[in-house]
Amino acid sequence: MKIFLDTANIKSIKFYNDLGLIDGVTTNPTLLSKEDGNPHDIMKTISSIVKGDISLEVINTTYSEMVKEGHKLRNYGDNIVVKCPMTADGLMACKTLSNDKIPVNITLVFSPNQAILAAKCGAKYVSPFIGRLDDIGNDGMNIIAEIKQIFQNYDYDTQILVASVRHPMHVIDAAKIGADAVTMPPSILEKMLNHNLTLAGLDRFLSDWKQIK
Ligand code: E4P
Repeated sequence: MKIFLDTANIKSIKFYNDLGLIDGVTTNPTLLSKEDGNPHDIMKTISSIVKGDISLEVINTTYSEMVKEGHKLRNYGDNIVVKCPMTADGLMACKTLSNDKIPVNITLVFSPNQAILAAKCGAKYVSPFIGRLDDIGNDGMNIIAEIKQIFQNYDYDTQILVASVRHPMHVIDAAKIGADAVTMPPSILEKMLNHNLTLAGLDRFLSDWKQIK
């Protein structure tokens, strides 16, 4: 399972990239708005740090503008994946950009029906937002299982990128289903990494070692 970092924070990206733990990065306008500096400079910097796929979202909403913006974003690097919204125009842009050999991540997906359409339009990734579904009383993870089954039935190449992840159990459940990728904020990656029993166990080993005469 690929692990993507869902942030535009350069410090976190550098840290986890240096650890070798991340396969890529996903950003969106909200994440970029939380950082200081010009968003385009931030996107360029991210693409210079991380070798894996970096999803950068378009801010235009019409087909022709999204295609134009997608080509511009792709100039930041060969690892740029253009994030288009799950709209009619977004799907058209997905088809055109994919035909132009620019990979697309269809974002803001909330149903298996939307995922099918994204796959049919050649998306490299489809991003179902599970946390936001949980927030309104639905079982977000359920659509991951449904999409997984549908994509397997038809041998679609589109990868399931689980997004809007809120806690480490989401990561475990996504992995059990066999999702291709999960994108998570740095705080969740930190929770995956650390365990109090690991730290306590290490302290004990080191203090016992000092007792040896
Ligand atoms: C990732 O591609 C999404 O933009 C992100 O996971 C959304 O997460 P949120 O629902 O916490 O904003």
